[in-house]
Amino acid sequence: MFVGLDLGTSGLRGLLVDEAQNVIASSETEYDTQHPLPGWSEQDPADWIAACKEVLLDLKAQAPKAMAHLRGVACSGHMHGATLLGKDAAVLRPCIMWNDTRSADQAALLDDTPSVRDLSGNSVFPGFTAPKLAWIADHEAQIFAQVETVLLPKDFLTFWLTGNLTSDMSDSAGTSWLDVGKRSWSETLLSASNMREDQMPQLFEGTDIVGTLRPDLASELELPSTVEVAAGAGDNAAAACGIGALIEGDGFVSLGTSGVLLAARDSFAPQPASAVHTFCHAVPQKWYQMGVILAATDSLNWLSRTLQEDPAHLTQTLGTSLEAPGKVQFLPYLSGERTPHNDSAIRGALIGLDINTSQQDLTRAVLEGVSFALRDNLEALKSTGARLDSAIAIGGGSRSAYWLELIATVLNLPLEIPEQGEFGAALGAARLAICGVTGARAEDVMTKPNISTTIAPRADLVDAYEEAYASFKNLYPKLRGDHA
Ligand code: XUL
Repeated sequence: MFVGLDLGTSGLRGLLVDEAQNVIASSETEYDTQHPLPGWSEQDPADWIAACKEVLLDLKAQAPKAMAHLRGVACSGHMHGATLLGKDAAVLRPCIMWNDTRSADQAALLDDTPSVRDLSGNSVFPGFTAPKLAWIADHEAQIFAQVETVLLPKDFLTFWLTGNLTSDMSDSAGTSWLDVGKRSWSETLLSASNMREDQMPQLFEGTDIVGTLRPDLASELELPSTVEVAAGAGDNAAAACGIGALIEGDGFVSLGTSGVLLAARDSFAPQPASAVHTFCHAVPQKWYQMGVILAATDSLNWLSRTLQEDPAHLTQTLGTSLEAPGKVQFLPYLSGERTPHNDSAIRGALIGLDINTSQQDLTRAVLEGVSFALRDNLEALKSTGARLDSAIAIGGGSRSAYWLELIATVLNLPLEIPEQGEFGAALGAARLAICGVTGARAEDVMTKPNISTTIAPRADLVDAYEEAYASFKNLYPKLRGDHA
């Protein structure tokens, strides 16, 4: 029996599977995010531990016999967060999260530092870990002076489970401290933000076993003390393991709060100027690249709050069959943007409103704006040499048939819709634990889900959307105030 734990932005999910990956039980619980100032996002690591305990105990209550035979656990989690430990591994302050933009100035400074882009394979985004530590050094010097270890969020859970300070390559790649090509901490990158290697956890591949359950925790939770814990992965790499995206040509489009277009890579092919993220995969000798947009379903949720209509109702009113592009244009930069603009200060816009603009027109504009932003990501991915033959669509937004046909047409790429079932980051984490404990090969364990439907691009509308995308692309420089 194996448990995958996914520390998500709004809650923690645990999935119990057997060695053949049959789902035995699942459990989920939520926690809060604090926003002390606009653009700030923090979580209390103690809330993660409480959630993890609750989920493990609930899995035990649901499936006591299976949990008595638990052999392996691995964690996945939201990336980039800075969990700072001081003396005796005490947590020094709330974790500053991936969607916190307070360190935009520090990120820009690091991004301009020679060798940083070359070694880390990425431009430095405010969401990444290194600029967060630079911000702490600038604004909370007393805390900075006490930092003995920096852990990523899911690694803090692994530390709680095992007592060991460890990380995996996929999550560490999002710190701006890892030499992503060599898969090792970089002295040059660390010293660029006044950090030292002794403050970093020990590095492993995602499938490596990093420890066993702490004996006191095993007896408190009444779990076998022989349970082994694998290094796990950042949530996007774990999701790629969950849907079997391991090799060149495989990928997914995720329509969650943020949107991700991910392509698995057989080699390290960074292109920092494109604002594509180039990270290690959770399995050895593989990488992946992704474009990230910050407001995918978040854009639809914003419209839903504003119009006081349920998001599902809004998309249903468009029907299921794609129409020609609408006249209203939407730029989905409600929280700034990562790929391709790396601009945390930009904000969104609705353009072309008139007296007859309806709720339907606004909904179509929002879905189109997000789809065009994903197309920007596809173009950025292509500039690195990444190839996508098709993409599996996952996340809450993939429930709208209209939106799926729209995205397939805008990307000119078939979208595959998995059958109902498990294929997310929690399954990916469980799969890493299976590989670690049993020694099974990743390619045998991390298979693709069965596909229920493939949504083809609408050939009759591809040109119209190509034209609309060209017009969308012209808007960002205008919105930013470039009048070249
Ligand atoms: C990736 C990123 C997010 C978080 C939260 O770079 O910031 O996808 O991992 O899910």
